[in-house]
Amino acid sequence: MPETMNLGSLAVHPPLLLAPMAGLSHSALRTLIAGFGGCGLFSTEMLSAVSLPQESATSPYLLRTEVERPLSYQLLAARAEVIPPAVERLHALGAEAIDLNLGCPAPNVRRMGGGAALMSRPDTVRQMVATARRCTDLPLSAKIRLGEALDAQNEARLRDFCRMLEGEGLDFVTVHARLRGESFCRKPHWGWVAKVKTWVRIPVLANGGVDSPASARACLAESGADGLMIGRMAAQRPWVFAEIARDLYGRPGPKPLSLPAVYRDFAAGLVGRFPPERRLGRLKEFTHHFAANWFFGHHLASRVQGSRDFTEACARAEEFFAAHPEASAFEQP
Ligand SMILES: Cc1cc2nc3c(=O)[nH]c(=O)nc-3n(C[C@H](O)[C@H](O)[C@H](O)COP(=O)(O)O)c2cc1C
Repeated sequence: MPETMNLGSLAVHPPLLLAPMAGLSHSALRTLIAGFGGCGLFSTEMLSAVSLPQESATSPYLLRTEVERPLSYQLLAARAEVIPPAVERLHALGAEAIDLNLGCPAPNVRRMGGGAALMSRPDTVRQMVATARRCTDLPLSAKIRLGEALDAQNEARLRDFCRMLEGEGLDFVTVHARLRGESFCRKPHWGWVAKVKTWVRIPVLANGGVDSPASARACLAESGADGLMIGRMAAQRPWVFAEIARDLYGRPGPKPLSLPAVYRDFAAGLVGRFPPERRLGRLKEFTHHFAANWFFGHHLASRVQGSRDFTEACARAEEFFAAHPEASAFEQP
């Protein structure tokens, strides 16, 4: 995989992208990742195209700092009419790229007709992409899943869908290599990303199950993708981008780190960015993933989960660190 990938007018290097993740892909996590290096394009969590024009610039969804660049904003929409005002807002916010969410299977998103539900409404998607393309020269992408089943009928539908996306002017497509109904613990079907690669000429990014330099190499070998997008492991090991960039491109890897120090940095990032009532939920979401770094991490996760407020959660985390000094040692990634 070449070290630089051109996504429309944007040169991304290295081609390792942060995935949009509701409750996780916010300014505090992005800043933490930026500190370790190795992420070529950051992402917001999904943003409702309907609400976006009214959202305050200080909203936790829109906050960003200088180091979180370039940043792609993911739009969640179910019809084309809501796209122009949302794109106008993203221009005003200085977005570097725009992504359309066509893959989220969450029931509430499906009910409003967005996310993965859109893959069964290609005409609506066609209008959405064409409208977005008319409104912006920024790199425009979509994130999709594989569809309904690993059979020939679905394959033909997926091929037509991907070609339609390319035909309407998308600059790249990210494929979360799972079917609509498959949970994150199922093994992703990277071989299907290879199929998408044969159908379109735009860059194709692979997503799903990339969590280390070894899995990055395996995914690239099987999918032939132009780049990789990483989700959950970005919250468990925010230095994973730097590790993969070191392995694939000989870039400097992450420095030795202390797990409690990373956790404290993240918590401080929340304090600096979000009002008190917004901090606890985000700390819980992060801890759910980050706690996996400790052998007894489930104790940390459940203590934080049961906290009534942010201060209590941080104090309980400190108790956990003190009770597990071996895990507080410096780790050489
Ligand atoms: C907590 C959470 C929130 C997510 N939110 C979004 C989202 O807002 N938009 C989206 O397209 N995908 C979302 N996803 C899916 C991820 O972007 C990604 O496709 C998925 O986690 C698989 O990648 P991974 O195996 O690297 O985690 C979310 C996933 C998680 C775990």
